Amino acid sequence: MIGEDGATVEDARRSLGFDSQDEETPAGEVRTEGRVPAWLRGALIRTGPAKWEVGGRTMNHWFDGLAMLHRFEIADGRVSYASRFLETNAYRAARDEGEIRYSEFATDPCRSLFSRIATMFSPKLTDNGNVNLTKVGERFIAMTETPIPVQFDGATLAAAGVAYDVPGELTTAHPHLDRPSGGLLNYAAKLGPRSQYRFFRLRPDDADPEVVASAPVREPAYMHSFGLTERWIVLAEFPFVVNPLSLVLSGRPYIENYRWKPERGTRFTLVDRSSGETSGPFETDPCFCFHHINAYEENGSVVVDLCTFEDAGLVEDFYLQRLREGKPVTAPEVRRYRISTGPGAVENERLLDDGFDLPRINYGRCNERPYRYAWGTGIGASGWFDRIVKADVGERTTATWAADGCYPGEPVFVAEPGAEAEDGGVLLSIVLDGNAGSSFLLVLDAATLDELARVEVPRHIPFGFHGQFASA
Ligand SMILES: [Fe+2]
Repeated sequence: MIGEDGATVEDARRSLGFDSQDEETPAGEVRTEGRVPAWLRGALIRTGPAKWEVGGRTMNHWFDGLAMLHRFEIADGRVSYASRFLETNAYRAARDEGEIRYSEFATDPCRSLFSRIATMFSPKLTDNGNVNLTKVGERFIAMTETPIPVQFDGATLAAAGVAYDVPGELTTAHPHLDRPSGGLLNYAAKLGPRSQYRFFRLRPDDADPEVVASAPVREPAYMHSFGLTERWIVLAEFPFVVNPLSLVLSGRPYIENYRWKPERGTRFTLVDRSSGETSGPFETDPCFCFHHINAYEENGSVVVDLCTFEDAGLVEDFYLQRLREGKPVTAPEVRRYRISTGPGAVENERLLDDGFDLPRINYGRCNERPYRYAWGTGIGASGWFDRIVKADVGERTTATWAADGCYPGEPVFVAEPGAEAEDGGVLLSIVLDGNAGSSFLLVLDAATLDELARVEVPRHIPFGFHGQFASA
């Protein structure tokens, strides 16, 4: 359908997800349609960009927006909702001075030549934790890809300063659970004359992490996440790489320093979690990916499932102006890589007909191990994430949930206590309802994708990335 101004009605509905949301929401009970299971008790907390306009400027990229936390507390079938900006240095500068003062993913602060030289070797990295959050022991931590994770209060959402020191300059907002310690595992790139990938562990009771392994690297790859098996940390380097010097000297925003070099192929490196020894790299066809789905060992091979794209063009797709104009984005493809550690060969194949991204699994039961189910959001005719996909990676089949004018975010799987089936539980997804002009929390039966409940939110929630459910 074409509206009077020439924009499609579909686009107008969807672009609401890229409108800044300035209003914070005090905690209060919200209306529920349907039935939220009585066993579901705890809080879904999510982060995402919510404000792209600062002073007279608009940020360049979806990933740049100032972080807002959203919290749904669920008990006895009732739900309350609250939202609050994550009070970081980047947020305070924007709120109190009306200025973008820190370097975001694709937006730099306005700097005079003098200040550019002054900050050349100590760039003002953002602490804008808009990508993901985690819980280590009793600490809630919001993260982006800079080494400044921000601790916050899981009840009030109030920020509480830097969570811990990251041993590098670049890191991921997708740490894994380190089952033996109950802490987290992550990787960081330490940049310098001899750059390194460093793998580190943060135990629940430790203030700062320890480096458990490292490997030299000349041109670090952009890696948004990594894989984990019971024995191995799985690093997948896509050929989207950066010369560390250009990060300090180019004067360009962070991501614009990366170069697509398909001739490098995709390189898998395995790091032994016990000894720290590395194996590889094992090379295969070039691709790009933000999200690992899962990895595990099978018959002497390492199986790695990824949400892939042909190249890094997706980064361009996510520039804000394109998204606000309703331009379509590239659809992901789920691929399976099988790394044979003996002869060092890598096989890869398309795993499913229907692709998705923002993947979730029954993490507590299946991460690091053979698994059968994954859930994510898929891109349909609208050119944007407009459905939830359930994949049976064993049978290689998919099922979908979709509703008119609705754009669901990452579906977080919550296992029903005592459930025997791997998919026994619910999915929690924040959905933008383009027809209503607001968002709702969708509760689906994770096995059947039957709708159980919709929880009304009093306003729209801009499209975000990731969140976690903390059981009560
Ligand atoms: Fe992510």
